[in-house]
Amino acid sequence: MSSEIQAVGLDIGTSHIRCVIGEPSSDGVMNIVGVGEAESKGLRRGVVTSTEAVAESIRKAVSEAERVSGLNVDYATVNLSGEHLRGENKNGVVAVAGPEKEITDDDIERAIDSASAMPLTPGWETVSRLPQEFIVDGQDGITEPIGMNGARLEALVHVVTSPSAARQNLEKAVAKAHIDVERLILEPLAAAESVLTDDDKEYGCAVVNMGSEITSLMIFGRGAVQHTAVFPFGSMLFTKDIATGLRVSIPEANKIKHHFGCVAKFLLTPDELEGVIEIVPFGRNETRDLSMEILCDIMQPRAVELMQHVARETSAAKAQISGGVFLTGGGATVRGLAEIAEQVFDAPTRVGFVDASYVGGLSEEVHGPQWATACGLALISMREQMRRGGSGGRSSAQRVAEWFGNIRGRFR
Ligand SMILES: Nc1ncnc2c1ncn2[C@@H]1O[C@H](COP(=O)(O)OP(=O)(O)O)[C@@H](O)[C@H]1O
Ligand SMILES: [Mg+2]
Repeated sequence: MSSEIQAVGLDIGTSHIRCVIGEPSSDGVMNIVGVGEAESKGLRRGVVTSTEAVAESIRKAVSEAERVSGLNVDYATVNLSGEHLRGENKNGVVAVAGPEKEITDDDIERAIDSASAMPLTPGWETVSRLPQEFIVDGQDGITEPIGMNGARLEALVHVVTSPSAARQNLEKAVAKAHIDVERLILEPLAAAESVLTDDDKEYGCAVVNMGSEITSLMIFGRGAVQHTAVFPFGSMLFTKDIATGLRVSIPEANKIKHHFGCVAKFLLTPDELEGVIEIVPFGRNETRDLSMEILCDIMQPRAVELMQHVARETSAAKAQISGGVFLTGGGATVRGLAEIAEQVFDAPTRVGFVDASYVGGLSEEVHGPQWATACGLALISMREQMRRGGSGGRSSAQRVAEWFGNIRGRFR
């Protein structure tokens, strides 16, 4: 089906760049028509260090998606990540302006402005303002205040800040690849879009996106973002541990991790416990036998340590995550991580696969948790374009809901 809406998600990660092209199908599902992936160069811990190298990697991933789909990509919704992103909950109060004391768009803008007006470290900027809820004359939990009556409007907003240079250099790299940035979206927010249901966000849950060098955490509750944190570690640590512990090269360690890695010994079958794998020690040609149990002994303590670090942050945030923990990113493909995380978080935990009801077409290709961000970016773009495209002639209640949806997801 050809469509006027072209939704392109471009996930710029430290180890991989992924591109997903989607089109809406009649039932609102995103038909995936193009996918592309390339190894990424020129980033460190999610931050661009060489715009030239990143642009080249972007071109490779995008060209592949273009070839698969037969389409041209001119613009994309892109993820923003980086170890320095910081989230804070703020509130702002305004007096409702109109003579009838009926809340308007403008009142809401002012309330959000007032909540997010805060002194910033020089060189830093606000990159996202995510409304959580509104309080009208003391009545809390309001999500759609437009048209309501009241004198005092309070906005609770989750504000995320980041060094300006990180965003600017990311935009430069994308521009060098001849692509317009349609919108920048925080990485875990994008991953959440393709993995979580509205119910998950309502009941309270956590998305833990583990990449190669950074891990981001976003906690949802009452339908909105409640907490954001980024940790300067990722799945690369397992690779380094394996390289050091087994005296193998980094590429060999990566191979071992991908093919045989397991971070939960209790998952190993009796055959695996007795079995051995062949590895090539650093600088040698001949192989050596390694037991799976030893590999597990190397990886498991690290997995526990990393998950404990993330879990401490969720406890400190005093957030309800009874709805579960969803692990996304390439790091989530390590066998046993969900099981270990479940024990550490003491909450239901699973690998965050892209929700099958959100995508069609080439969905098999993007099913894995490492595709959650790219798919989420494309989904956000598609949903946004559909909202904008067909807003004429709808009821005002619908428009209010849509506007709020926009505001909730809006990146600034
Ligand atoms: N099959 C796999 N088994 C174990 N680890 C994997 C697998 N596939 C990818 N990874 C790891 O996931 C990390 C990359 O995840 P990704 O989400 O692509 O990262 P980034 O966002 O940093 O580009 C790497 O450290 C890689 O080794
Ligand atoms: Mg990533």
